[in-house]
Amino acid sequence: MKSILLNKKAISENLALMTFSREGCEKILPGQFLSIRQTAGEKILRRPFSIFGFDDKSVSVLIKAIGRGTESITDMNEGESADILCPLGKGFEEKIDYDRTLFVAGGIGIAGINSFIAKGKKAKMIFGDREGEFSAAADYFSIDCLYVSEKGKNPNRGRVTEFIDGFEFDAIIACGPKAMLRAVKEKANGRRYLAVCEEIMACGVGLCNGCAVKYDDNTFKKVCIDGPVLDGNRIIYD
Ligand SMILES: Cc1cc2nc3c(=O)[nH]c(=O)nc-3n(C[C@H](O)[C@H](O)[C@H](O)COP(=O)(O)OP(=O)(O)OC[C@H]3O[C@@H](n4cnc5c(N)ncnc54)[C@H](O)[C@@H]3O)c2cc1C
Ligand code: FES
Repeated sequence: MKSILLNKKAISENLALMTFSREGCEKILPGQFLSIRQTAGEKILRRPFSIFGFDDKSVSVLIKAIGRGTESITDMNEGESADILCPLGKGFEEKIDYDRTLFVAGGIGIAGINSFIAKGKKAKMIFGDREGEFSAAADYFSIDCLYVSEKGKNPNRGRVTEFIDGFEFDAIIACGPKAMLRAVKEKANGRRYLAVCEEIMACGVGLCNGCAVKYDDNTFKKVCIDGPVLDGNRIIYD
């Protein structure tokens, strides 16, 4: 579906909030994603992004430019169009008990967590990065969280998992790099754990197996159609 880039906001050097017109994008649920193919210039395959935010007329994504696909999208100018498939993946339909749920976001994983936090709700959240590269994002979005960094000026020094024991919770919802998701599983220690997975994808619609992750009973889940929200306690993180 052809969507127009309505607004582009550079949050930091390689991080941009891109807001597109919401064309034919039906009901959106937390955890869902969309895929974008820019339609001007060199043709590059679609790339998947978590739905960061939305309203009746628009849908936004927070993009960290790391390669050809993400750069081709963050280089777009307002008014240009892109081909967007939205929404994709299974949404999370359960009511969230914000008092008993801990959200954990690692780096750009904040994009996968944001849609779970309903407007006006106070959530328990740890948001971490390596050396403060997401501090501008934490400030810009006024994210109410414990913001931690492995290195740099941030006084809350360490990995997100080092801070989990300071919270009381019955469930964790986490999004971030695979190594972080693996480490969070140990901290969940048998409590409910939902991992929002951002596996490398090809087709994005269940046809290619490119995004399959293995569960502990040797079955496979396709992140694009069974996820991206999967049972973090059952994933084999190899
Ligand atoms: C469901 C889902 C949701 C996502 N949500 C977001 C989001 O909200 N914001 C965002 O910025 N990115 C998100 N991503 C990741 C984003 O799609 C990738 O960054 C993008 O596909 C990389 O494209 P590229 O052409 O810029 O990089 P490429 O040139 O293809 O790759 C650059 C480098 O990044 C690595 N890489 C590529 N894709 C991934 C990935 N998914 N995870 C880790 N490393 C990767 C490659 O191996 C390579 O080393 C999401 C991915 C998925 C599957
Ligand atoms: S990306 Fe093709 S099956 Fe998921």
